[in-house]
Amino acid sequence: MVDEEKDEMIVTPWEVRGEIDYARLIREFGTEPITESLLERIAKHTGELHLQLRRRLFFSHRDLDIILDLLDKGTKFVLYTGRGPSGPVHIGHLVPWIFTKYLQDKFDTRLYFQMTDDEKFVVEDKLRLEETKNFGYENALDLIALGFEPEDTFMIFDVDDIDLLYDIALKVAKRTTYSTAKATFGFRDSTNIGWIFWPAIQAVPCFIHEKLTGENVPALIPAAIDQDPYWRITRDVAPKLGYYKPAQIHCRFLPGLGTGGKMSASEPETSIYTTDSPDAVKKKIWNAYTGGKATVNEQEKLGGDPNICTIFQYLLYLFEQNDEELVERERSCKAGETLCGHCKDELTEKVNKFLAEHQKKREKARSRLADFHIKR
Ligand code: TRP
Repeated sequence: MVDEEKDEMIVTPWEVRGEIDYARLIREFGTEPITESLLERIAKHTGELHLQLRRRLFFSHRDLDIILDLLDKGTKFVLYTGRGPSGPVHIGHLVPWIFTKYLQDKFDTRLYFQMTDDEKFVVEDKLRLEETKNFGYENALDLIALGFEPEDTFMIFDVDDIDLLYDIALKVAKRTTYSTAKATFGFRDSTNIGWIFWPAIQAVPCFIHEKLTGENVPALIPAAIDQDPYWRITRDVAPKLGYYKPAQIHCRFLPGLGTGGKMSASEPETSIYTTDSPDAVKKKIWNAYTGGKATVNEQEKLGGDPNICTIFQYLLYLFEQNDEELVERERSCKAGETLCGHCKDELTEKVNKFLAEHQKKREKARSRLADFHIKR
């Protein structure tokens, strides 16, 4: 393979770019790695470890040990995650949501899910408010399709529900200085003021359970690590307001299908959307970047490289549930025994099978959306 120029790594809540060095993110963000012993503690509660834990796709945390300590002493936690509805949901977005469902099932906890139609409106220059709101309702169908139930799932649509959020947001905002927010998010003179206040809104669901139920318990947030800056300011403020600091468990980013694992919103062929047709999926996978060699001959001689292969990553993150099969695929790729077409065919079949079911459940969710609304 030609040695590609390594892009500079950029990871902010609004932009993820370049080659991601996860160990470096742990160091720079000041989070903790998920250790063997922490995994053992989780397994004590869950029995089995979810594949996203076994395969270290969730790799970093803040205070997960404290959540387990509290649990041992009888204090439960609630789950909180969310989505910035700037477009349709792709398969990468489902990764932390699927994991959240596993945590909810194993720990029998409530989930608060925030749909940040307001955030995407203030941050994305081109999007109209009607568009982000509409993406919000559409994206919510994808969450529901994963099997969540209204009894313990509460969805917040920021613009519709601002009256419920506003008092807590004000308290958070009052305790957050401009200099902290600026240092955390890199605000500039040209940043619009909606964006500057906005982080106070993302903090609210960490604390809303107490307002709704009178029960003061910590929140655990499963999310990709790019969201961490929000939780840094939330964690500073929490004790000042009499709440627990929210804990986090951070996952990696599912690479896109483009060269070097690139995913780009302006290039729809680099992601698989949950509403894609079987043909579209086939085409995208067929054109995906792999770890294969230029010719069959070379591949048979030298073997492929699953580490840089986007097809292999999709199997690792979601579509090959069986660990032994995954290891065998890796081995036979490296040994030059399998060609890329074979893996592409198999992934296409798995993705299309999953999406056929998902799309049915997604349509059924339409009539149930109101049941999940936090104001019900
Ligand atoms: N800011 C997030 C985004 O742009 C959306 C979000 C809100 C979120 N609350 C969250 C994501 C909690 C993860 C966890 O995608």
